[in-house]
Amino acid sequence: MEVVVLETPAEVASLAADTIEDVVRRREATGTPAVLGLATGSTPLATYEELIRRARDGRGPSYEGVETFNLDEYVGLPDGHEQSYLATIRREFTDAIGIQPERVHGPDPTEETLPAAGERYEAAIVAAGGIEVQILGIGSDGHLAFNEPGSSLASLTRIKTLTATTRKDNARFFGSPEAVPHHVLTQGLGTITRAGHLLLLATGEGKAEAVAAAVEGPVSATCPASVLQLHGHVSVLLDEAAASRLVRRDYYREVYSGKPDWQGL
Ligand code: F6R
Repeated sequence: MEVVVLETPAEVASLAADTIEDVVRRREATGTPAVLGLATGSTPLATYEELIRRARDGRGPSYEGVETFNLDEYVGLPDGHEQSYLATIRREFTDAIGIQPERVHGPDPTEETLPAAGERYEAAIVAAGGIEVQILGIGSDGHLAFNEPGSSLASLTRIKTLTATTRKDNARFFGSPEAVPHHVLTQGLGTITRAGHLLLLATGEGKAEAVAAAVEGPVSATCPASVLQLHGHVSVLLDEAAASRLVRRDYYREVYSGKPDWQGL
């Protein structure tokens, strides 16, 4: 796991955007467009905004043919609800960068087909060739996607119940914790760790404890994000505040500053 401690959230967004653009360009050159795994929530917004800004300035790669898979989706929202994660990712990123709506995927929370929704989503990811790079945020309780503490480290896409902590954290999108759905469909930890490269972004003091548990604590379902320690290609991009509880902070800085130019994330 490579831990990169940067000064500001803007630097985190810029390095994450460089990494996404590299993948899109590399895949474009092979004639098979990239498959990106996208997170919603507040943290990746600055990265999406940076990518959109570069595309508008004519500095970005072409997103023609790029396919995306969301991590998760709320269950039980009325059709077309603006806080559904599919609507959110389209509004905040994919529409603006020119990814065709039919190539933007999320777990399907339609009630009548819910029991098979997880299996269908897994099959869709496999059919697309797998996710090359997966953007991730982390919950203040250590959740990854909506795999709450106690989730199996081998889990696949399925229905989960949100913790009170997560519903409180997400109340800002719904007006109150009571309005946040209790149930979600989420990629499992086993699904996430099948992606080629995992890019965890965390900014702000509120994430410091969860980041320390995920990066330096034991691998345990109690901190779902600690599953990242088992993956061969993980980049954890942090600002100073999110890195503030890491014991080996100075070592991570030394490693990153001595990194050769030819070696990307
Ligand atoms: C969102 C998701 C969640 C968030 C996490 C952090 O698709 O899967 O795991 O990444 O809750 O959310 P923010 O970035 O809003 O703090």
